[in-house]
Amino acid sequence: MARFGKLEFADLEAVGPGTPAGRYLRLFWQPVMRLKDLPPGRAKPLEILGEMFTLYRAEDGTPHVTAYRCPHRGTPLSLGWVEGESLRCRYHGWRYDGTGQCVEQPNEDRPFCERIHLRSYPTRDYAGLIFAYLGDGKPPTFRRYPDLDRPGVLVTDPVEVLPCTYWNKFDNDHGHRPWVHRATALRLNRKDILVIRHESVEETAYGWSGQRVVKGEEDDTAATSLGTVKGERSSAQNGLGRARMTHWFMPNVRLFFQPTRAKGFQGRDIWDTKIAWTVPINDSKHAAFDVTLTPVEGEEARAYAAARATQEEEAESRWDLAERILAGEMTLEDLPADMSAYTSFTIEDYCTQVGQGPIRGRGREHLAASEGRLVLLRQLWLREVNALVEGRPLKDWTVPVSPLAGM
Ligand code: FES
Ligand SMILES: [Fe+2]
Repeated sequence: MARFGKLEFADLEAVGPGTPAGRYLRLFWQPVMRLKDLPPGRAKPLEILGEMFTLYRAEDGTPHVTAYRCPHRGTPLSLGWVEGESLRCRYHGWRYDGTGQCVEQPNEDRPFCERIHLRSYPTRDYAGLIFAYLGDGKPPTFRRYPDLDRPGVLVTDPVEVLPCTYWNKFDNDHGHRPWVHRATALRLNRKDILVIRHESVEETAYGWSGQRVVKGEEDDTAATSLGTVKGERSSAQNGLGRARMTHWFMPNVRLFFQPTRAKGFQGRDIWDTKIAWTVPINDSKHAAFDVTLTPVEGEEARAYAAARATQEEEAESRWDLAERILAGEMTLEDLPADMSAYTSFTIEDYCTQVGQGPIRGRGREHLAASEGRLVLLRQLWLREVNALVEGRPLKDWTVPVSPLAGM
């Protein structure tokens, strides 16, 4: 294993089976699709971690992840039919039960089903997402996040698929906000987004936590010094305790808090708790699975859910707009004035992250002191992945049992 003894950052880009980062990610349950994007009784091909699988939902809605190809002669099983909890291959009709055991070979006078097993992976749903354990052996205990189990409206956002390495998303430091999201901040008069903050980060039992402090003496001074925003709101100072914290759960889960951006609910000091899983689809594409818990209840909860639903429609065309911006045909300032902030934020992030390209393709980076969180994250990853490939013990990350929102 000496070959992997000194992995470098760029070595973490590859995620297929047997690669160092791919092996590490496969030690953890990963979200693979939004539950509502696959109706019960349907099968789909699934690419995740540089590998193809078949994902289907039984007629009762239970999700199953199996090998991509039929063990008979290799046709993709996603072409087949779901029958009850089982999956039938379209080529010659072999049928596999919910455990992957072949139970029918209709063309054969002397079936040998007992010798045929389709590999299937532990699968479950949580927070509106389908999770699978794609590693070998017994899966670890499934992690729940107490912050998502509080009362409120849980929204599982449309999955964001970005054609760039997952590290471009991981490395999205806090310092980007006043710049990448400037157009949205100006459009919505969100002075708080323009405030420059410094962040101090430290390793924790679950990954890292970061605490931000406003650069300069206090928020309004810093915001005013940018000289571009008028407005009376000082939401930068509202809920500062929470707004200051970001938590990272190794290896690929981020939790943070933000004032809600849903139309009609802005400016009311309602705070979203957001958990985002970033999962590589392959070496040059990743998916971001975001879940938001917003503490509104009763009648307000219904109005809130309706406001968030408009975002689904906008999501359809957002990457076309992002690609046009990257091509220089329009600018981020040209986005429609009535576009929801959830959508414009994703377009803004797409442009900077996809534009970065692959790790090895961008030449030497020049990291600065304000980027402590990504320096620490790269260190934690390299420490763990080097330990994995050298057969040394790994840190057993533990998620807190009570919500971090109350801290
Ligand atoms: S390839 Fe699936 S049944 Fe023949
Ligand atoms: Fe962003």
